Amino acid sequence: MQKLHIEGGHKLFGELQVPTAKNALLPIIAASIMAKGEVCIYNCVKLVDVFSMTDILNSIGCVSTWVDNTLIISSANIHSHSIKEEYTKKIRSSIFMLGPMLSVLGKAKVAYPGGCNIGARPIDLHLHGLRELGVKIEEKHGYIYCDGACMHANEIHLDFPSVGATENLMMAAVRLNGTTTIYNAAREPEIVDLANFLTAMGAHIFGAGSSTIVIEGTKELHGVEYSSIKDRIICGTYLIACGITGGKITLVGSPKEHNMALLSNLKQAGAKIDANNDSVTICCNSKLKALPDIATQVFPGFPTDLQSQMLTLQTTSKGTSVISENLFETRFKICTELIKMGANITLKDRMAIVKGVPKLYGADVEACDLRGGAGLVLAGLGADGYTTVNQVEHIDRGYHRIEDDLRCLGAVINRF
Ligand code: EPZ
Repeated sequence: MQKLHIEGGHKLFGELQVPTAKNALLPIIAASIMAKGEVCIYNCVKLVDVFSMTDILNSIGCVSTWVDNTLIISSANIHSHSIKEEYTKKIRSSIFMLGPMLSVLGKAKVAYPGGCNIGARPIDLHLHGLRELGVKIEEKHGYIYCDGACMHANEIHLDFPSVGATENLMMAAVRLNGTTTIYNAAREPEIVDLANFLTAMGAHIFGAGSSTIVIEGTKELHGVEYSSIKDRIICGTYLIACGITGGKITLVGSPKEHNMALLSNLKQAGAKIDANNDSVTICCNSKLKALPDIATQVFPGFPTDLQSQMLTLQTTSKGTSVISENLFETRFKICTELIKMGANITLKDRMAIVKGVPKLYGADVEACDLRGGAGLVLAGLGADGYTTVNQVEHIDRGYHRIEDDLRCLGAVINRF
């Protein structure tokens, strides 16, 4: 089990290129199996979750190869419609395979997905939408059995704008005869990126990024060369890191439109922000003010994937903050570890009440999930003394060597 060792108290300065977005790449890798021909994904970040997805593709007969940072996927020889639990339990996005496999193979047998332990994370919206498209579904022995022999276009309403369900249904519908409409669709930038990728393969998709997505089915999807959007959550993580340590950093590649909620909050807290459609600069010369009320929402609201990092910032901000986590019911595990570092946090239902303290002190802490682990790294950057973050494998799922990025910006952090 690897650890990160951090010496707190160093301001961050400098500039960093934001890598491509994990949550855009994962559905795109799943969608790649629908291409008649090779798919080349450029600037593909080498994350544990990306490798878990390519392992899934390889397990059904695809061939995925790397040339430097280009991922090349060929699906000419798919030989199975079944994905075993050993693959699916590692990652939530294994569920995204249902749509593409039904589209290409007409059937799918997929074990239940895994992923960050941040809540129950049901898949009822995925299955409801697929049933609306005529898929016959049986759940037994830990597997989801799908028969797509009678699939057809349809109108689908999602009771909640689920990111994954929107993506799964877009992929399931792109090759169906006729027009499929998804109402109350998710609006995240990663949805738009997947729609752009499918369109580049020859799909006809309209309205991605809005609550209503219209898909006009097309017979065949061809190979494509593509480069995804940059990771708005990594960008936001490092902006918040600078809010904690002080200093001035610029993140290049993620447009301000992808992080407007965060930028607005950081400005309210007293940070100087200079943002355009290609980079964001943050400058913090003094301790930030606490934000009285932060509530996670679907895009374009404040993202749940930045909640742990923002909560960490509030622990040493001036005043009291209330953070409400409205998407996932157990996404406050970081709090016990932050309290070990001297934070003053009270949990009540789905709220964390955070009273700012002058400083956290370094401690030995455990990462419990991906974004909570990133939050603990940020806590260590601002703490007095040394912090060791254990279970770094959680963090590696969404950040490729986070220590290298932060060291580039002046942090004193090492992996061992
Ligand atoms: C995606 O997860 C992201 N993962 C998550 O990022 C992100 O937190 C989440 O969207 C919300 O933005 C990937 O894209 C791989 P949802 P997903 O379906 O698709 C409920 C990270 O740290 N729901 O939008 O699983 C669900 O329980 C990860 O990078 C149902 O009830 O999220 C949750 O309360 C963590 N039934 C809410 O919807 C369903 O069938 C949002 O979930 C599906 C979801």
